[in-house]
Amino acid sequence: MSLPGAVESMRAEVLEGLTRPLRELSPKHLYDERGSKIFEEITRLPEYYLTRVERGLLREWVPAWIRDLRPQALVELGAGSAKKTRVALDAMEDEGSGDLFVPVDVSAVFLQEVADELRADYPDLRIEPVVLDMAHSLEIPEPLPRPALFLLLGSTLGNFYPQDATDLLHRIRDRMADEDHLLLGLDLRPSPRKPVEVLEAAYNDSRGVTARFTSNVLRVLNRELGSDFDLEGYRHRARYNSEEGRMELGLVSLRDQTVRFPGGATLEIREGEEIRTEVSCKYDRTSADALLKPAGLEVRRWVQDGDDRFALVLTGPQRAPHS
Ligand code: SAH
Ligand code: AVI
Repeated sequence: MSLPGAVESMRAEVLEGLTRPLRELSPKHLYDERGSKIFEEITRLPEYYLTRVERGLLREWVPAWIRDLRPQALVELGAGSAKKTRVALDAMEDEGSGDLFVPVDVSAVFLQEVADELRADYPDLRIEPVVLDMAHSLEIPEPLPRPALFLLLGSTLGNFYPQDATDLLHRIRDRMADEDHLLLGLDLRPSPRKPVEVLEAAYNDSRGVTARFTSNVLRVLNRELGSDFDLEGYRHRARYNSEEGRMELGLVSLRDQTVRFPGGATLEIREGEEIRTEVSCKYDRTSADALLKPAGLEVRRWVQDGDDRFALVLTGPQRAPHS
C-alpha cells in the first residue's frame, strides 16, 4: 500500500508531466509487479535482441574482468530479474572474490521475489536488496567492501534523457571509491551493420507484448491515483528519432477523450495526441563519452558484438592527470 504522502507526490508529479505541451510520464511507473513481469516477456521476444546480445557479451567478457578486478561487492542498479547478473555472480563465486550482492530497483514486490530466488540459488551470497528511485537518490548500504563493481545493464541508462543520465552517473560516481568500477550495457545507434529497422522492430514486436507493457502504465495510474484512463483508448507507438539518437515510445489517443482524477483535475486529450511513456537513447562512443566525462567517469574497456548492436562498457573514476 502506498502512503497518502507518496500518493500525493505521485499525483503532483504525474499531473505536472501530463499537462506539459508534450504530455509525458516517468518510465519508472511502467514497473509495478505486472509491468516488471511483462518486461521479462519482452526480454524473451525474438525481436528484442538487446537482452540476448548483452548476455552473450557478458558471458564472453565478464569472467575475465572479475578475475582481474576481484570485486568484493556487486551493486546492480535497475536489477530487474537479475538473470544476466548471474554470469557475474557465478564468476565471483568461482574466484571466491566477494560475497555481497546489492540489487537496487524501484519495483519493490518484484525485487523481493528476485532476492528470495537468488538466496535459494546462492546460499553463500549475502543479498541486500534496496528499493529506491535512482533518479532521485542512491542511498545504498555503506561502507561497501572494496573494490565494488557497480552494474547498470540492459541499456537502462538510455531511459534517462542525457542531462538526467549524466546526473545519475554523477550520483553513482559519488558512491564509488577510486578502485571501484561501473559496468554499463549500452544499446548502439543504427549503423551499416545495424539497420534502423532492427531497432524499431525491437519496440514494435509482432506479438504486441511491448504494447501491453506501455499501456500497463495507465493501469498503474488508475490503481494508484484513482484516475479513469480508458485502457482501450490508446495505441502504442515507437519510432526512432535519428536527430536525437533515441527511440520514442508513447500512447496515441484513439479519440478525443476526458480523463478525470479524484479531487477534480481533468485532462482533455485530443485524437492523435501522444502521451510519451519512455525514451530509449542509443549510443556511440562519442555520445557515451559526452555523458561519462562530466560525471567524472572514463571508459576503461569498450566491447561490442560483431553486428554492432550492443556494447559493454567498463568505466572507472577519472584518474587525475600526471603533473
Ligand atoms: N537490468 C535488467 C532490467 C532492465 S528493466 C535487465 O537488463 O534486463 C529496467 C529496470 O530498472 C526495471 O527493473 C525497473 O524497475 C528499474 N527502474 C526503472 N526506473 C527506475 C528508477 N528510477 N529507479 C530504480 N529502478 C528503476
Ligand atoms: C529497460 N529499458 C532499457 C528497456 C528499453 O529497451 O529501453 C525498456 C523497454 N521498453 C520497451 N521495451 C523495452
